[in-house]
Amino acid sequence: MTYEFIQTEVLGEGPLKTGVIRLHRPKQLNALCDGLMDDLGHALHAFDTDDGIGCIVLTGSEKAFAAGADIAAMVDYTYMQVFMSGYISRNWEAMASVQKPVIGAVAGFALGGGCEVAMMCDMLIAADNAKFGQPEIKIGMIPGAGGTQRLPRTVGKALAMDLALTGRMIGAEEALRAGLVSRVVAPEQLMPEALAMAEQINGMSQSVARLMKQCVNEAFESPLASGLRLERRVFHSLFGTHDQHEGMVAFLEKRKPEFKHR
Ligand code: HXC
Repeated sequence: MTYEFIQTEVLGEGPLKTGVIRLHRPKQLNALCDGLMDDLGHALHAFDTDDGIGCIVLTGSEKAFAAGADIAAMVDYTYMQVFMSGYISRNWEAMASVQKPVIGAVAGFALGGGCEVAMMCDMLIAADNAKFGQPEIKIGMIPGAGGTQRLPRTVGKALAMDLALTGRMIGAEEALRAGLVSRVVAPEQLMPEALAMAEQINGMSQSVARLMKQCVNEAFESPLASGLRLERRVFHSLFGTHDQHEGMVAFLEKRKPEFKHR
């Protein structure tokens, strides 16, 4: 499948591969137009339903992951146009229904909608030139794809308010300290690091990886008591699986487990 605004490829050595999606609108610093978001949603769904794929890596260019929603497209929108067409709601939420782990590999600008798409990933690796921010206030707007909600849940209220109200950017090291990203590497190491992480996850039980993702995401969506109940239920249920028994027997026999993802 070829797309207009993204590039996709399948990489990896093991039986399960990694689906790579690269945002590709270089002249506009990967500004997120409707067509790009349609392409992204389609590619995410295609990789998510491909049994040969374990993890998905989402990345941009060395200069920009994405510099935000497309301002040129938005400038003349009216209230009723965006409301009636379901702007953002129609095609930006695709990531939320992806079952497989999605690793965001961010270099350069991740601003506005770009920062919001990055935060929709399950984890982020940043190149040391990455810059994150929610600069919508500078153009008379607020974030519209989760920036006011995911950012404070991730970095806390003080920094979220600081970034949203001043529109300033933070670099990769500050993003690491704030918990927005889990690793910072040199730009040339960004994809190797993301692919190595994906390869490691591809070697695990995929059913466990998906349930793990659901449980961790629940921590953002429900009170502690119900999150703990879900975790206990999933934990107990895994004793009914092949992979739990195989994983533990392999440990005791000092060999590599042969997971069957069931
Ligand atoms: C449309 C954009 C764009 C954007 C950059 N470009 N960001 N076009 N939408 N979000 C275009 C520029 O107009 C320019 O086109 C080209 O990309 C290169 O950008 P420059 O500004 O020349 O590059 P540079 O000087 O390096 O500055 C980079 C930058 C700056 C700091 C990232 O471009 C910038 O501030 N961009 C806007 C960032 C922003 O406000 N994002 C939030 C958008 S609102 P030409 O044709 O002149 O070469 C948003 C709302 C989300 O995201 C809510 C819904 C999800």
